[in-house]
Amino acid sequence: MSSTGFSRTDHGLVCDGVALSAIAERVGTPVYVYSAAAIRARFQDIDQAFHGYPHSLHYALKANSTFAIAALLKTLGSAADANSVWEIDLARRVGFEPQDIVFTGVGKSNSELECAVPLGLKAINVESAGELSRIETIAERLGRPARVAVRVNPDIDAQSHPHISTGLKINKFGVDVAAARELFASLTSRSFLKLVAVHVHIGSQITSLAPLRRAARFVAGLTAELQQSGHHLEYVDVGGGLGISYDGKDVVSPADYVEALVDEVRPTGLPIVVEPGRSMVGPASALIARILDIKPRTASSDFAVIDAGMTELMRPALYNAFHRIEPVQLRPGAAHQYEIVGPVCESSDVVGRDRMLSPLEANDLVAIHDTGAYGSAMASNYNRRPLPAEVMVDHGEWRVIRRRQTIDDMLSLETM
Ligand SMILES: Cc1ncc(COP(=O)(O)O)c(C=O)c1O
Repeated sequence: MSSTGFSRTDHGLVCDGVALSAIAERVGTPVYVYSAAAIRARFQDIDQAFHGYPHSLHYALKANSTFAIAALLKTLGSAADANSVWEIDLARRVGFEPQDIVFTGVGKSNSELECAVPLGLKAINVESAGELSRIETIAERLGRPARVAVRVNPDIDAQSHPHISTGLKINKFGVDVAAARELFASLTSRSFLKLVAVHVHIGSQITSLAPLRRAARFVAGLTAELQQSGHHLEYVDVGGGLGISYDGKDVVSPADYVEALVDEVRPTGLPIVVEPGRSMVGPASALIARILDIKPRTASSDFAVIDAGMTELMRPALYNAFHRIEPVQLRPGAAHQYEIVGPVCESSDVVGRDRMLSPLEANDLVAIHDTGAYGSAMASNYNRRPLPAEVMVDHGEWRVIRRRQTIDDMLSLETM
């Protein structure tokens, strides 16, 4: 039995010993299945790679904020990175203390800041001069300095998909170095703002070490500059972004990643804050869907229409993202080419293009792998489709951690 996720046995695909077909039978499809063991292993891989160097891992809730997932990460010793006041609320309900939460996000509304500033979070990661002033006004009214970090845009190419690259000057995120230096200078005389760190995050699904190292070098360099000019910073926030292998190709290992971070940040003498999302939960889940129909496509390929699509897993339609797909039970026979498509009324609702798979038939189950991050978190009600169920497998047992939404749940928000 694999202790870290999904494997094939005589009973078809299993998650840590539990047959996926048994879960689908009881809960229905589409259903996200998570391996708690895989999440623990991912967290520990990164955490232990620091070998005692002071650090904290602030799990990026945006990747997946299902309550039980956030709660599991909390029990492992994670802190949290929230991207909205609602993620902060979720984090607080899970049990994260305000000092364990950093608040990021390119557009924080006044009402979000009114909630966040009094909490005394570890830091609000500020993205503009205007946002800094809005925080200052609230802090002054409260009579208590707000802890802020400034997100600096380093103009570094993450070499990732353009939609998930955030570190180039043309991207909307953070402030450029010149503007950051002006903000830092102004902060020496702004008594209701306490600068605790510099923050950088250049993008997601980064699969080579060089940009991650450059970003760490950049933020450490700026931190050292500030230390020399008398700022007492508390830590260096290097953001998230470590990629995972969706297609089996090599990616940066947690050990190499952390070694580079520590190398670059050590000269500052400060602890490292990392905001990993995808790398913590991405590989720990498969989305299980049922085939509704097989119909002809070309002379050599068929469509397999499944009951999950862009409403449950938006990444393929949004980023042309690749996810491995395989039947839960293998049928004998030669591999055949399938276009795996969802039920949503959009041509972009293709979950897997041109896949060579063992023969499929209507009613078969398929597993769509590595869907733990930016999967259920991005699900929508488009076409009035209900949010899917979610199941956690832990120590050979499984439980529903989010029931499938119903039409009544959806309509409970609406009136004539
Ligand atoms: C500021 C910030 N921190 C952390 C993350 C998490 O990134 P990832 O899931 O790639 O680790 C994101 C997501 O893009 C982000 O915007």
